[in-house]
Parts: sequence; C-alpha cells; structure tokens
Amino acid sequence: MRKIFGTLCLLVAMATGYTQNTTTIIKAGKLIDVETGKVLTNQMILIRHDSIIQVASNISIPIDANIIDLSKYTVLPGLIDCHTHITSQPSGDYYGDIFRKSAVDVAITAHVYAKKTLEAGFTTVRDLGAPGLVDIALRNAINNGDVVGPNIYAATVFIGATGSHGDLNGFSPYLEFNLPKGMSGIANGVEAVREQVRFNVKNGADVIKFGASAGVLSEEESVGAPQYTQEEMNAIVSEAKMWGRKAAAHAHGAEAIKMAVKAGVASVEHGSLVDAEGIQLMKEHGTYLVSDVYDDEYILSEYAKLGYPEKIINKEKMVGKLQRENFQKAVEAGVKIAYGTDAGVYPHGWNGKQFKWMTRFGLSPMGAIQAATINAADLIGIKEKTGSIKAGKKADIIAVLSNPIEDITSLEQVQFVMKNGIVYKK
Ligand code: ARG
Repeated sequence: MRKIFGTLCLLVAMATGYTQNTTTIIKAGKLIDVETGKVLTNQMILIRHDSIIQVASNISIPIDANIIDLSKYTVLPGLIDCHTHITSQPSGDYYGDIFRKSAVDVAITAHVYAKKTLEAGFTTVRDLGAPGLVDIALRNAINNGDVVGPNIYAATVFIGATGSHGDLNGFSPYLEFNLPKGMSGIANGVEAVREQVRFNVKNGADVIKFGASAGVLSEEESVGAPQYTQEEMNAIVSEAKMWGRKAAAHAHGAEAIKMAVKAGVASVEHGSLVDAEGIQLMKEHGTYLVSDVYDDEYILSEYAKLGYPEKIINKEKMVGKLQRENFQKAVEAGVKIAYGTDAGVYPHGWNGKQFKWMTRFGLSPMGAIQAATINAADLIGIKEKTGSIKAGKKADIIAVLSNPIEDITSLEQVQFVMKNGIVYKK
C-alpha cells in the first residue's frame, strides 16, 4: 500500500512539477550572472520553498537539502519571452483559425503550449493578446497549480481601431461577429480607447497591448501605417498608467513607432521600419525594443507551404529583412532590448531559436541572454522577483549542456527547468 502511495505521489509530482523537499542546493558548474555580465564557475545556490536564499562558491549543505548536481552544466536564470500568444499556434489553416474556432477551442489547447514553453526554459512570458480572456484563465490556473506553464503576464484582448491589424479585414461587410461588448478589442476615439483599457484591466490585464501600426499577418492593406491618432495613443497609455499598467505598442512603421514612443509606451513590439529619429526617441524615452527577429525565417519557409494568403507573404517579404537591419541599428545605438518572439506565429517551445538571430544582428551572446532575463524582467516590472539568480528572488533557474556564451544555440535545448523552486524538467 505504502509503495502504491509512494508511486502515486511520484506520479503527481511528475505531473505538477511538485517537489516534496523544500530545501534544495543546486551545484552549478558555470553560472551566468546576468547582472554583471560574467560567467562564474563552481557556484552553489541555496533554495528554500520558492526562493533563492544564497548564491556562493561554498555553502554548507543543510542536512535536509535535496541536492541537484548541475556541475557539468551552465546554469542561468529562467528565460523570459516578452511577446507570446500562448493561446494560438499556426495550424496551417488561416481562415479556419479565424472562422471555425471559438475561444473555447483555443482554451482547450492553450495549456499544451504553456507546458511546451516552460519546458523550453521560459519560466515567464508576457502574453500580448488572446481571445476571450483565455490568457487570464490560463494564467490563473497555472498560478493555482492546476496546469503546468510559465508565469504569465497577460494583456487580454489586443486594442485596435476599426480596420486595423486587430480587426478582421477583407471579408464581406455583411458578416457580423457577435462578441460580448469589449471582447473584440476594437475601439475608436479617445473615450472609447479609455473604456477599452478599463475593460481589459477589469478583466485581469497585467499589461495593455494596442496596435499603433498595421501588421503583417492581417489583411489590411499596408504594413507600416499608423492606425491610431496621437491623441488615441496618448489616451491608451495614460489610462493604462492610471491603472498601474504599462503599455506595449504593436508597431512596424516608422511614424507609428515615434507616435507610440511619444505617448510613453514601455515597449515597441516588432519595430521593423524604425528610422534614425525613432531610434533616438526610443533612447531618450528609455523605450524597450522587442523585435521578433526569428519570425521572418519561419513565415517565409512555412507559411507559403501552409497556404497563407499571398498578400500576407508579400508583406512579410517587405519587412523581414529591414526589421533585422533596423534591429542591428537600434542595438548599435544603445536602445534597450528585451527578448520577445511572437511565439504562436511559429510553434510554442521554439522560443529559444531567436537567440541565434539576435546575435547575428548585433547583440553579443551575453547581451541576448540579458535581453531574455534581466532586461525582460525590467520591462515587465518584475525585476525584484526574477530575471537573475540572486538571493531574495524566486528560484527560476534553468541549465544547458554547453556554455551559451560560446554556443548560443545551446539555449534551444534547455535540459533543466525550475520555476518558483519547483523542478519541471530534469
Ligand atoms: N504579429 C506580427 C504581425 O502580424 C508578426 C510579424 C512577423 N514578421 C516579422 N518580420 N516579424 O505583424
């Protein structure tokens, strides 16, 4: 009987990531200190419950400690992806995803993507737009321990103007979508966008996401044109601030980027066509650039095969290359960079693939790791809690086999994942 109970406990532990032992020592062969930008050797990390108590080269091991030997690994803080859509996955059926799926379909599968994301070493994500408040339900279920996944900071619905990237375009005007008020995220004019921000906050949004410019994977005509006026952007950002939320602007176009930065957004997402003036403004305002520089690769190689509308593929061809070149210019100018992939555009769990592209376009390996740890935590506003391996922070810790400073692609194969002191992959 006891054996059966023990086995059951083990199975439960494996399913939920729960560990019984609450004091843990991790022995780290190498440890990436993202705050100083140094790689330390032979470190020990003392963890109690969900928090890091001490990091040092020698710690006397408490008698009840569970020892995790990662002396052959490089240990680093849990990674943070500042731009995911954890509820969606490219199914290959563009119109099917739009017309034949409800928020309930999305809710049924979202936990699968959450688990994949966590197992890829991403212990935290900022999820920037989901239908039907599924992101909030998922976040809460993860926090309650019902579902396995990363810590989620969620935006709820994407706020956009009529005819914008956030709207459904190119269809018969007689088609009507009967969503409950607020659920479409479509809002026009200063009063309406303020009301939409309030709707999002009321329903649990940690961050506000809006469309400052047109987009790629949507059927409106352009890709870079502004889609809100300066007054509307100012209203969104100031309303968000009033409720203690930061705003993230989807912006490809140069003009829209500048307008969003002037409005005071915390981050520009994509930033594809940013110009010299925009780069300068971002530096002055301390605005983060969150640029999904891997996506072009996936979209151009897979979306055409998956039968996506030609219009969309053509838009991608227009921005992809420029986005990477402009990312490099921004990096070289010293714009703050946080890691964000737009996962959901490509399969979840592949979040680590972007490191390679960031280092090809201007960042050092350490810079790319900092973008995905300490900078990302700073952008989200959770630097006190996570983003580095330091006493007092949550035990969000991962490990890889080879030193990512020498081979950045090792971050595509994360071997060990601990979130809030609980081991999810070993
Ligand atoms: N969600 C973004 C959009 O539709 C994806 C852009 C992907 N392409 C790129 N080059 N980053 O606009």
